[in-house]
Amino acid sequence: MARTRIKEALANESAGVSIQVQGWIRTRRDSKGFSFLAVNDGSCLKNLQVILDATHPDYSKIEQLTTGASVSIEGVLTPSQGKEQKWELLASRLDVLGIADHSYPLQKKGHSPEYLREIAHLRPRSNLFGCLFRVRSRLAYAIHTFFQERGFFYIHTPIITSSDCEGAGEMFRVTTLGPEAAAANPGKTDPNQDFFGKPTFLTVSGQLEAEIFACALSNVYTFGPTFRAENSNTSRHASEFWMIEPEMAFCDLGGDMDLAEEFIKYLIRDFLNVCQEELGLFTQFVDKDLQTRLEFVLNREFKRIPYAEAVDILLRSKKTFEFPILHGANLQSEHERFLTEEHFKCPVTVFDYPKEIKPFYMRANDDGKTAAAMDVLVPRIGEIVGGSQREERLDLLEGAMKHHGLNLENYWWYLDLRRYGSVPHSGFGLGFERMLMFITGVANIRDIIPFPRTPGHAEF
Ligand code: 4AD
Ligand code: MG
Repeated sequence: MARTRIKEALANESAGVSIQVQGWIRTRRDSKGFSFLAVNDGSCLKNLQVILDATHPDYSKIEQLTTGASVSIEGVLTPSQGKEQKWELLASRLDVLGIADHSYPLQKKGHSPEYLREIAHLRPRSNLFGCLFRVRSRLAYAIHTFFQERGFFYIHTPIITSSDCEGAGEMFRVTTLGPEAAAANPGKTDPNQDFFGKPTFLTVSGQLEAEIFACALSNVYTFGPTFRAENSNTSRHASEFWMIEPEMAFCDLGGDMDLAEEFIKYLIRDFLNVCQEELGLFTQFVDKDLQTRLEFVLNREFKRIPYAEAVDILLRSKKTFEFPILHGANLQSEHERFLTEEHFKCPVTVFDYPKEIKPFYMRANDDGKTAAAMDVLVPRIGEIVGGSQREERLDLLEGAMKHHGLNLENYWWYLDLRRYGSVPHSGFGLGFERMLMFITGVANIRDIIPFPRTPGHAEF
């Protein structure tokens, strides 16, 4: 008999159908003449209630049917007499596939996310994490659908690279040179002897390579893992995270901001339409204002303000911040959250940042001071998107690279894009995990990455 996923079994409207399901026991309740099993196979949040009659020969296995055990069950779908569920399964055959004794950590009582992080190999079997990882999968699907529907091409950019796109120097070195090489060459190893014949790193962004393809296929996007060796132990930073980076030729900063807003709203709408069961759980257990906030964001235009105006608002606010507010300095997360949560109470796109605090590739504005950069800030997260129009003028780009201390020879291919048929182009990066935090209400990035990597942590 073919296996039926529990999600489909529960959606079935025809009584008397004989099916086979397989899954893990969540709970068992024994009553006179029967046992009730709640079985879950991860296809949805709901469990299937299975009834095992005490007179059935397989009832002898009852002691093995403990929380966490895996089972294969055949039976007939029947309208349930309980009001908890519409359907239940009357078991005609039950096989225990794998037992779980009482050391199984996921017993019925709720566990804290901190504890569940320590058992990341079992936490997907809990209600909350099952929901989070199903939503993570759906979000990835919606991202591809958004771009594919709009004629963007998906580009795979390298994970190992020799360029530092963001110029922050927060890169993980990739090397096959062992300690012997270091011993032979005290002080430093010789990169010429290394695997790729030059120093290489895990990428911090696929943007520079995406630009190559935008300057050929016009509209492209990347969606892959990125790595940052920054030592920030916050609830919004991971050392390994996924980023979506669209890049559009013939597009200026205005078009870039439009796409970012349309994209974020599309992803929220998809979540609200498709993941209702998960939304219900998040609203109940994670963040009771979640649905209201998401609908609010969906139905309003994002506020757009230049950086200078944002700083003036912060300076005028009577609020005390940990970090000082200065024209010319980076906005800190507390400043970003004040703007979006307290001042505007909606997502805010801040644009035209001082060029001194931004990477080399951003297009210089005519004022000589700012760059055509933009960040989208949302409540509870702060920065969710960072993007810009790119400098397409060869002489200005070379000047900016020298100013940032880059070796132009290493970026000959990037400069060629400006040498041959240069076009205005723009793009941005959306942090996949930050978006997931936003739509689920989860406050810590460690809880929406299957196996989070943060400073000091690389278990599993
Ligand atoms: O602002 P960032 O650094 O921009 C770039 O990397 C550009 N190359 C993007 C582009 O224009 N193509 O990063 C983009 C987004 C941030 O807004 C944030 O959402 C997320 O990536 N992000 C992180 N997410 C989790 N952990 C970290 N350590 C992150 N650093 C950035
Ligand atoms: Mg940024």
